[in-house]
Amino acid sequence: MATATSPHSLLLQKNPNILKNPTTHSNGFPVTSVRTNTNVDVKLISIKCAATTTPHIQDRPSAQTQSQDRVFNFAAGPATLPENVLRKAESELYNWRGSGMSVMEMSHRGKEFLSIIQKAEADLRALLDIPSEYAVLFLQGGATTQFAAIPLNLCKPDDPVDYLVTGSWGDKAFKEAQKFCKPKLIWSGKSEKYTKIPSFGELEKSPDARYLHICANETIHGVEFKDYPNPKNPNGILIADMSSNFCSKPVDVSKFGVIYAGAQKNVGPSGVTIVIIRKDLIGNAQGITPVMLDYKIHAENNSLYNTPPCYGIYMCGLVFEDLLEQGGLKEVEKKNKNKADVLYNAIDQSNGFYRCPVEKSVRSLMNVPFTLEKSELEAEFVKEAAKEKMIQLKGHRSVGGMRASIYNAMSLAGVEKLVAFMKDFQARHA
Ligand SMILES: Cc1ncc(COP(=O)(O)O)c(C=O)c1O
Repeated sequence: MATATSPHSLLLQKNPNILKNPTTHSNGFPVTSVRTNTNVDVKLISIKCAATTTPHIQDRPSAQTQSQDRVFNFAAGPATLPENVLRKAESELYNWRGSGMSVMEMSHRGKEFLSIIQKAEADLRALLDIPSEYAVLFLQGGATTQFAAIPLNLCKPDDPVDYLVTGSWGDKAFKEAQKFCKPKLIWSGKSEKYTKIPSFGELEKSPDARYLHICANETIHGVEFKDYPNPKNPNGILIADMSSNFCSKPVDVSKFGVIYAGAQKNVGPSGVTIVIIRKDLIGNAQGITPVMLDYKIHAENNSLYNTPPCYGIYMCGLVFEDLLEQGGLKEVEKKNKNKADVLYNAIDQSNGFYRCPVEKSVRSLMNVPFTLEKSELEAEFVKEAAKEKMIQLKGHRSVGGMRASIYNAMSLAGVEKLVAFMKDFQARHA
């Protein structure tokens, strides 16, 4: 099952000079036009070379394989990244595509980095089929900063806004909003330990709320919206924190006013926060809004108002490229559903040895919390799994138990190995 073959070792076998002599790369600079946040046509320079040409899908190791020296990392974020993306970044780390410098050393205003950020945006737009009326911003500060930026940009201090809280992250967003407006908690799953999502019919939405905020996937509690509620106010918008299921499945962006996500689960390293916002919502920030939280500033400057997290954006771009090569988000969703089925079935068929507390219809495809009937064995479970190179399975400190985060980059092989371990552990401890 394990393999030491990487797409780049395959590439290097075919052309061993690739890394030795990056200046031989063919920089054809084909130019494509892309419409940016400010509705200006910008020329995209695509800089290609042999070392960085992404191998065809058939040349890549299958999603089932994993190099011997890597662990299966079930962390909730920062999380596992696709091995071929890491290999590609490794091959480009020292000298990016014959430029003579690393992406970390580039001016964020130079043509090389501009081509990187523009390509990342274009690929994300293709992946999520983002309509042209939406701006894409690459920001900093994590999703946590968006908890403040959302009310600051999208309502006035006395405006009513609605929060539907299905887990700890939604609760944090709600609490932060209290500093900047008058959010109404229209439903909270706290008393039921955040194990469900209510039927939308029972929600007491405000008729004049400027927006309705949800957390599309609660990373700690493993609760995921499968469908989305509409705001009651016909002029209100739906806002979603998609940090932990961003790019894990297709999403109809036009249903939302704003989607935001920290990159460090599905699409890159920590340090990059992506905001997708309908352009007509930009430009109404409260007077007290710090410049770094004002969407207008970032949109007008194509995310280059100040020095952006260049290397993180570059990594996100490589992940977007990889997701497109996998066939796009429909294909990615199929794989994610399959992995989640394998794991939830193992839990449900364990005769109660393992339990997932989340209502079946809203179980997350990304974060799978589970407990052991004999809770005194949980520490042993985590310890033994780590010995088998399956790490970060301990549940969040606020809920205990275990949690397996199975983001896009977690292979089916990783999930199957975990399930085999779970069965063996049960056989030894039942
Ligand atoms: C759903 C969700 N929202 C927000 C956050 C906070 O993100 P950050 O640490 O990037 O601020 C997290 C972090 O795990 C998360 O999972």
